[in-house]
Amino acid sequence: MKAIILVGGEGLRLRPLTCNVPKPMVPVANKPFLEHMLDNLKRHHIDEAILAICYLPDRIQRHFEDGSGFGLSLTYAVEETPLGTGGAVKNAEQLLDDTFVVFNGDIFSDLDLTDMIAFHREHKAKATIALTPVEDPTAYGVVETDSQSRVKAFIEKPSRETVTTNLINAGTYVLEPEVLSLIPSGVHHMLERGLFPDLVERGIPFFGYRSNAYWIDIGVPQDYLRLHHDILMGKAIARFPGKSIADDIWREDGCDIHPSAKIIGPVVIGRDCSIGEDARVAGPAVLGAGCIIGQGCTIDEAILWQNVKLGAGVTVRSSVIGNNSAVGDNTWVSDGSILSDDTVVGSDNRLEHGIRLWPGSTIGDNSVSF
Ligand code: GTP
Repeated sequence: MKAIILVGGEGLRLRPLTCNVPKPMVPVANKPFLEHMLDNLKRHHIDEAILAICYLPDRIQRHFEDGSGFGLSLTYAVEETPLGTGGAVKNAEQLLDDTFVVFNGDIFSDLDLTDMIAFHREHKAKATIALTPVEDPTAYGVVETDSQSRVKAFIEKPSRETVTTNLINAGTYVLEPEVLSLIPSGVHHMLERGLFPDLVERGIPFFGYRSNAYWIDIGVPQDYLRLHHDILMGKAIARFPGKSIADDIWREDGCDIHPSAKIIGPVVIGRDCSIGEDARVAGPAVLGAGCIIGQGCTIDEAILWQNVKLGAGVTVRSSVIGNNSAVGDNTWVSDGSILSDDTVVGSDNRLEHGIRLWPGSTIGDNSVSF
């Protein structure tokens, strides 16, 4: 069976992390997010996938090529301009000749695909949508089903007074190729607002598959941090690079960790990192390859991408720092702050309260308290 993964969106809500990097290439525990999705496909013996790409397509194609380095076969359906979730699937129509699975490319889930596909077949469905329960469905697309699991209605972001179910669209669908005839060619079309309501209206067999498996959409920075927390705490299952060197500490080769440094797991340390005297790294935390952590730094629940350089006495807490960034002595970065790639922050600054620095930003010494 083939999968099509929708990875053409701009990921605007995840900016500035997605200014230089498309959302599927954003690192999660030191490997691109999309690699984690491909791991899940392989677990369910799906070894052919089409990547529907549009935003920064080269970054994705150059990394994955034909997929052989990742244990599956990959082809690409490229959009010149974004065609939306439905238009992107339509754009790959000539590659789809049998039942296929569609994934939103920003969902991390342990969904049991094998069981979902069996459910689709048992119900002789033309379309099946995965549903996941959430505490507050008002921010999502809610899906109402009847007692036979047949989809009755789609309601986008219902108000608290009108909401009737906590089951939302989990961004994974099993479809028969014939439903593609209902999507117009070459125009922007959203499955959620176009094809799916159309299937309900026409009475075409369309079912909801309810799953309580782990599920998260990494659309916004808080959820990107939450996914790391859940993977490192063992709530979400993922493979990531590094050998286990102690309880809940994984490290790749070439690292230089000062004997007085304290590492309190769960922590993932990429290759060639250096951690200075009396530094403290407390998990859940991830250091990307080539990070240099100065003397007396404190890193707590933070995600550092590659080649991040921290001076002496820097604190980074519940925040993300992008590739090739440098932070000067005694600067404090906390509370969901996001420093994108190539930022340079001088010494003695305080960056808090979810401040976001765009790629290449420069801040002098002792000049920001936010
Ligand atoms: P925001 O800009 O933050 O809304 O993010 P997004 O557009 O990247 O993601 P959204 O949650 O809106 O879309 C869900 C999934 O569909 C993501 O994996 C997107 O990459 C993908 N997607 C959205 N629009 C398109 C499109 O026009 N073409 C393709 N190929 N994929 C799309």
